Amino acid sequence: MHSAARPADQAMPLVARKSSGIRGRARVPGDKSVSHRSMLIGLLTVGRTEIEGLLEGEDVIATSHACAALGGTIQRQAPGNWIVYGVGISSLLEPLRPLDFGNAGTGARLAMGVIAGHPIIATFDGDESLRRRPMRRVLDPLARMGAVIVDEKEGGRLPVRMKGARDPIPIVFESPVPSAQVKSAVLLCGLSAPGETTVIEKEATRDHTERMLAYFGADIKTEPYGVHGRKIRLKGRPELQPKKILVPADPSSAAFPLVAALIVPGSDLILESVLANPLRYGLVDTLRKMGGNIEEISRIDSAGEPVVDLRIRHSQLKGIDVPPERAPSMIDEYPVLAVAASFAEGETRMRGLKELRVKESDRLAAVAAGLKANGVEHEIDGDDLIVRGRGRVRGGGTVVTHMDHRIAMSFLIMGLASEKEVAVDDASFVATSFPGFAELMRGLGAEIR
Ligand code: S3P
Repeated sequence: MHSAARPADQAMPLVARKSSGIRGRARVPGDKSVSHRSMLIGLLTVGRTEIEGLLEGEDVIATSHACAALGGTIQRQAPGNWIVYGVGISSLLEPLRPLDFGNAGTGARLAMGVIAGHPIIATFDGDESLRRRPMRRVLDPLARMGAVIVDEKEGGRLPVRMKGARDPIPIVFESPVPSAQVKSAVLLCGLSAPGETTVIEKEATRDHTERMLAYFGADIKTEPYGVHGRKIRLKGRPELQPKKILVPADPSSAAFPLVAALIVPGSDLILESVLANPLRYGLVDTLRKMGGNIEEISRIDSAGEPVVDLRIRHSQLKGIDVPPERAPSMIDEYPVLAVAASFAEGETRMRGLKELRVKESDRLAAVAAGLKANGVEHEIDGDDLIVRGRGRVRGGGTVVTHMDHRIAMSFLIMGLASEKEVAVDDASFVATSFPGFAELMRGLGAEIR
């Protein structure tokens, strides 16, 4: 089966070349994590959830189709403005066809959590990239909660057929991997369980599920655990109250114009309404330590999340050591950080990047190959990536993107400041998370064609 979210065989090569300044104001599309959650949690409320600023990328659209197949009524009122009429906890319908999540790990894993808490059978599938990604990390705790994995490909790969639990069991789950998707799947299943579900994470990961559930009225409590961790306790079977959700701009998408402005001489850029959740803000903290001129020109609280406007100016960066405990707060930003590090003076060591190997591609390998193709000295040492920056990049390479949107965008950003142009073999997957990326960048002065 081919993924319904995208026709096969439509590679879209793109080339980026030296540009003379990234200037102006922009608002990148809505946050992917918040968008997926607003659909799925909206589905579990009774009534009307209004969403403003939803990311209309292929990943979230796939989740919206899944929500409709589970009984929700989903309406698009205007660009970015969507309504979800939910059915409430315990009232999902059994989907008639396999649920196709396309390229989206978040959609698939969070939906597994939701369905595991309902007595229905569903088949989960996705594109070639998603079919390669590990699902055991989610299926194992959900099986402990009572879900039955009827069928799966070797090693817990998609397609997976699951029968959810009629009476899910609340568990205490200590996550073996730092993953917000795993944590969220357990919590979403815990919504249907009687009593208290507890998730312990040794390293705190993005907490949008916890914030949104609290915002919708669930009894959910978070306390520190160890040095970098958290313990989350959720009381099951709450009556979630639908509310309006304002989706801020995605910091993981803002990362691309942000790094472009830092590395392209003559840049002066304002990025509006960027989500500044501390568990998503690692890139800004890191780039500042590298000497990046990033100024917060406003900060507000928006529906339970901090949101900032940022002004970024061209800066000469210097190499630094990035500690492993920062990884969860910038896990999706390492490819573009590696690009920034290539233009820095000196060595940048990014520690503890094991999880990068199981993203939309093996991102550690894909980044290393892209750096090599463009003449950047680097090394992989265990789970660390070391980039030896020389203040400038030769470029001239063609980067293989492996169906990975962030690999495509990162190396296009590299091409905006390198001596020779940088090509990517396929930028079509950019539409999964950042529709309009090339157009937005061109509007700011980027030479991408
Ligand atoms: C996400 C969690 C992260 C991240 C992904 C979005 C989420 O994945 O890489 O893009 O919305 O929960 P992991 O949970 O696998 O770390």
